Amino acid sequence: LSCTAVVPAAGAGKRMASAIPKQYLTLAGKTVLEHTIERLLAHGAIERVVVAVSPEDQWFDSLPLVRDERVVRVQGGRERADSVLNALAAVSSEYVLVHDAARPCLAMQDLDALLAAASQPRGAILACRVRDTMKRGDGRGAIAASVPRDELWHALTPQCFDTQALRRALAEALAQGQAVTDEASAMELAGVHPLLVEGRADNIKITRPEDLALAGFFLQQLNENNQ
Ligand code: CTP
Ligand code: MG
Repeated sequence: LSCTAVVPAAGAGKRMASAIPKQYLTLAGKTVLEHTIERLLAHGAIERVVVAVSPEDQWFDSLPLVRDERVVRVQGGRERADSVLNALAAVSSEYVLVHDAARPCLAMQDLDALLAAASQPRGAILACRVRDTMKRGDGRGAIAASVPRDELWHALTPQCFDTQALRRALAEALAQGQAVTDEASAMELAGVHPLLVEGRADNIKITRPEDLALAGFFLQQLNENNQ
């Protein structure tokens, strides 16, 4: 199976509250976005990486990686789903894999596992089991109930789908004004139930300031162990 990767990288990183968007912060001498793209391109099945970049972006064009002909820049949108839908216009492969720019610690074995499940018509996502006991709040600061943990998963990326099916599902979800924070939720709204592929918990999304050092540590571990 060969496919194109779409990397939404047009976010402002509000929760990170750094001077520059988090995808351009540096880890071990390279930006987070370069680590992310390099890991995707290191896999033989990924032929191109289409990166959705903000129109106001001042950083992308100075990355050495932009000279790689497998890397394509397209314009991002207002929400993540808009960025992904824009990027899909530049995808011609049958299958597409979508991966957050802010998730640089992707292990090759996880990419293998996802791609092995990806030709499923319903698509597949990397996910990991929740660890803590889960509570539903009552909205007034107390516990309403415990939520059975064995049913709960963290949705990670990459998420892999039939390109046409994802394009239709995202366009429809956006037209309906639905909030879609990952690709799978757009598919779910279309009545499709993608597969959960259990992945590593160190595939974190850099979201808050404390995540950067953690990602640096995980990345070093992955590199040392050839993962
Ligand atoms: N993203 C995007 N286009 C947007 C919003 C987000 O391409 N309009 C991308 C981000 O660059 C990131 C990924 O989607 O790689 C996951 O989103 P998130 O972690 O929420 O990043 P930000 O939106 O940048 O951060 P925040 O929500 O804290 O502002
Ligand atoms: Mg966001």
